Amino acid sequence: MELCVIPGDGVGPEVVPAAVRVLRQIVPDVTVFEAEAGWECFKKHGTPLPEETLALARRCGAVLYGAAASPHYPVDGYYVPGVRLRRALNTYANVRPTRYLPVPTSRLGVDLIVVRENTEDVYAGHEYTQDSGRVGIGEKVITQEATERVAHRAYRLAQSVNRTKVTIVHKASVMPQTDGLFRRVALEVAQQYPDIATDELLVDTAAYWMVKKPDRFDVILTSNLYGDILSDMAAAWGGGLGLAPSLNLGDGVAMAEPVHGCAPDIAGQGIANPTATILSVALLLRYHFEMVEEAERLEAAIQAVLSTGDHTIDIDREGSLSTAIFTDHVCQQLM
Ligand code: NAI
Ligand code: MG
Repeated sequence: MELCVIPGDGVGPEVVPAAVRVLRQIVPDVTVFEAEAGWECFKKHGTPLPEETLALARRCGAVLYGAAASPHYPVDGYYVPGVRLRRALNTYANVRPTRYLPVPTSRLGVDLIVVRENTEDVYAGHEYTQDSGRVGIGEKVITQEATERVAHRAYRLAQSVNRTKVTIVHKASVMPQTDGLFRRVALEVAQQYPDIATDELLVDTAAYWMVKKPDRFDVILTSNLYGDILSDMAAAWGGGLGLAPSLNLGDGVAMAEPVHGCAPDIAGQGIANPTATILSVALLLRYHFEMVEEAERLEAAIQAVLSTGDHTIDIDREGSLSTAIFTDHVCQQLM
């Protein structure tokens, strides 16, 4: 097994090595190639995603990515490397499961998977300003091809993990040309999977149900922006951002990354929660390497460590474990 590892900025270089330690425990013969990306990389090399990083990611076909610190204002030559990497690798589906974990902040009964289109929508990068910067314009791009492939991926994934329902989320009522297209194509694909039930919700209503009754959801299929927001909402029910994993899937390529960012407020203190990144590695094992047994062992180890009642401080103020000690406990579970 070959893995390209990109720690990135902030807590990335804390949680990514922790997850690699755990991976080595379970897959001892993994070969890890480390590469740079992010804001620090941009300051050092003038690019947030060097060609060597991209080439290594392509060659390995499997990536573990931490997070990048991206400024919230335009910087000449800078772009968000994670978004660029997902597009370059053509990982067109972003898979974000949320399920109850034994911590006080998680909600019993929640067990859902958001499958989010990963290459287009308002994140396609077609943005410009007019009228001397007084008007900002962005294009929303939805294509039949990208919708079809993510929809098939969502239904096949639902089948593979014995899920029974897919909810298609859109706002076709207000955007009939874009979300209307997404809805129509997704519903057409749904007809090819009669063993899976399908329903649909407008995104605002979906947000309401995500707060009110998250166990109403099984698999959610949606476009890029809505999936980004709904999966962060779901992450709150999973116990918090420190626990929320994700996997970007293409055909034969995958990039695992925690849902959270680089957490500058806690970086460098050794207290970041590595669970989201470790569970992202479990997703990589399950869906990319088809090592289901190893993925289950990893998930069980996390469950067991959290069940002891102690955790990192992001969960609640009772948490006393550092990143390193938490990771030690997970590794001990796997011995
Ligand atoms: P964030 O996810 O970095 O942090 C939000 C809150 O969650 C913070 O209080 C943070 O301390 C906490 N948190 C996040 N991960 C944690 C962990 N593993 N353990 C314990 N606590 C954790 O989001 P925020 O603050 O909006 O963004 C910070 C920076 O990260 C920005 O520069 C943003 O652009 C970047 N970012 C990068 C992403 C990526 O590269 N995939 C995704 C989201 C944000
Ligand atoms: Mg997000």
